[in-house]
Amino acid sequence: MAELMEPLHEQLRGGSPAVSIRCGTAANIEASDESADLICIDPPYYNNVQYAELSDYFYVWQKRTLHDLYPQIFRRRLTNKQDEAVANPARDGSSADASAAATVG
Ligand SMILES: C[S@@+](CC[C@H](N)C(=O)[O-])C[C@H]1O[C@@H](n2cnc3c(N)ncnc32)[C@H](O)[C@@H]1O
Repeated sequence: MAELMEPLHEQLRGGSPAVSIRCGTAANIEASDESADLICIDPPYYNNVQYAELSDYFYVWQKRTLHDLYPQIFRRRLTNKQDEAVANPARDGSSADASAAATVG
């Protein structure tokens, strides 16, 4: 992210743009109307990668070392599967339900 922002910093000649990086679900971004010029997300690819399930392997080890520094990020026992924007038959019960969950709000 910092690398991506570099050209913007150069363009502003060292000034500091109001950039906010947040960790959370894109389904519920707390920002008032007309308060942001750009919200940038890079969503998952439907059912191709179950990021949260894969992340658990790293999460449990990172939590052991980083929890004291970032208690809010590491407050869960495992990663949040429920809010993940993927089609996941294991989570949703069937392929049809996973498809519905991934395509409807
Ligand atoms: C295609 S990857 C993005 C990879 C990232 N841009 C990078 O370069 O490392 C999709 C990402 O979306 C995240 N994701 C899944 N559900 C999300 C949600 N509801 N809100 C925000 N991000 C979500 C996944 O955890 C995964 O990290």
